[in-house]
Amino acid sequence: MPRKKICFMTATQKEFHEDLNRAWQWREERGVFRQLEACRVFHGAGEGRGPLQFWAVDRFQDHYWITQWEDSKNTVSIFEELTRFCVSKNARSVVGLGRPEQGVPALPKILHGQPPEERFLAREVGGSYLIQMMGARHPGLFMDHSPLRAWLKDRAQGWRVLNTFAYTGSLSVTCGNAGAAHVTTLDLSKSTVAWAQENWIANQLPEDRGRFISGDVFEWLPRLKREKQMYDCVILDPPSFSRGSRGSRGSRGKKSNFSTAKDLEKLHALALELVERGGVLVTSINSANVTWDAYQAQVLGAAQKLGVQLEVLERIDQPDTFPTLLSRPQERYLKGWILRVI
Ligand SMILES: C[S@@+](CC[C@H](N)C(=O)[O-])C[C@H]1O[C@@H](n2cnc3c(N)ncnc32)[C@H](O)[C@@H]1O
Repeated sequence: MPRKKICFMTATQKEFHEDLNRAWQWREERGVFRQLEACRVFHGAGEGRGPLQFWAVDRFQDHYWITQWEDSKNTVSIFEELTRFCVSKNARSVVGLGRPEQGVPALPKILHGQPPEERFLAREVGGSYLIQMMGARHPGLFMDHSPLRAWLKDRAQGWRVLNTFAYTGSLSVTCGNAGAAHVTTLDLSKSTVAWAQENWIANQLPEDRGRFISGDVFEWLPRLKREKQMYDCVILDPPSFSRGSRGSRGSRGKKSNFSTAKDLEKLHALALELVERGGVLVTSINSANVTWDAYQAQVLGAAQKLGVQLEVLERIDQPDTFPTLLSRPQERYLKGWILRVI
């Protein structure tokens, strides 16, 4: 029944266009595109109906990055529809990447135009950040931390900051640009620490105000304590799961593993030892399956061990460009607090 099929496609396409245009217009009315060169243009989990709920579109200047989260039907045609939408918004290039539920995704594919071969700067909150469209599985900037960058931008002046799980160091750059006295950037991956260092230099931040460490937090937090380092602000932003470095945590040459489900208390206890009384602990996780209550219990367990109180300054939640549906709480993955240690 080809006629019926055409009608169905038309209805679906109509919904796609409505959803995408609604998301675009909502941002346009709020000046998002005017203010930021890097932003989420469409967050399907909250803004898309049907198959579009598994898709997102990000924009970096005039270059667009489409992400698909699950193997859904009509993948090819949805990539085509989303590309058409980006081109209608004057995209110079579009790339697309599928993230399978398990395993490492393939590198992004070019869907339109010629994306820059080299990293380029996009202005966002608190600084400009180097974006990579080709040859990386992530463009290098997490836009869901935009509100955290805004918070740090207004407060980090004069602070000594330790940014752990730093990735490409966007939060370090924000603090540096805000006038932090010194920022230490720590991440397990050598290549992202090098990227963080490039970000620091691209923002013309002085070398002597930054320290860059590639290593495992479970090895380095005790080491920084032995160095007698203390900070006005420590940032923790662990992934749900990671394989640590060889030899860390006294593991006799075996790789150490980290998971937000079991290691949060230990991690927070190590971090709290490095925060000056009156200073700030930023803690954030990206784990839909760790509940707020379970997370809070682990952070409180660490505070009790150290005999400190934690005053809530802010709650970290998904920004309004990453909306979710009330009926799908599993999509609210971003959680955290900005806490004063007293
Ligand atoms: C979710 S990303 C952090 C994003 C970052 N805070 C930002 O705003 O751009 C997690 C990072 O943790 C790093 N990582 C994972 N396990 C680690 C470990 N055991 N020690 C240090 N860094 C680790 C990864 O290399 C990755 O860059």
